Amino acid sequence: MGKKGTEIVQVDLDKLLELLKKAYADEWIAYYAYKWAADMAHGMGSPHVAELAEKIADEEEEHADELAERIIELGGELPYGLEALYDLANCKTVTYPTDMSDLKGILEGLVEAEGCAIDVYTKILKFLSPCYDRDIKTFHLIEHILAEEIHHEDEFENLL
Ligand SMILES: [Fe+2]
Ligand SMILES: [Fe+2]
Repeated sequence: MGKKGTEIVQVDLDKLLELLKKAYADEWIAYYAYKWAADMAHGMGSPHVAELAEKIADEEEEHADELAERIIELGGELPYGLEALYDLANCKTVTYPTDMSDLKGILEGLVEAEGCAIDVYTKILKFLSPCYDRDIKTFHLIEHILAEEIHHEDEFENLL
């Protein structure tokens, strides 16, 4: 990141990078878990659930990309490897029913996963508060991702 761009970041950078990397890991796990549900859901009404899980999985991948860009810009490195991602993640799995034709059970798992993401991003915003101008760019990125997670929770809940 450029000189001025670095100067205006006035937070504990190591702590911030740790929070961002953990969120990055969460996004990949969500991406994988949602795609898995989209493929595995079956039975009556399942195409609606699969379509939504597929769409939201793609949005989680976008979040991972956006976080990656900011992590690198702040001078950090991305964790590599599935084990590293699992170790770092706050939301390590999505709990699905044994019977993947149980659409209510699937949706409940997805709603819970979004709740975990909402907690993660709220925590990062609190870390950057009360003076959000200590790192305006990260604050706005996280605010934008949080708004989408809140919308995801709503979208899954609406199918319940
Ligand atoms: Fe996300
Ligand atoms: Fe989400």
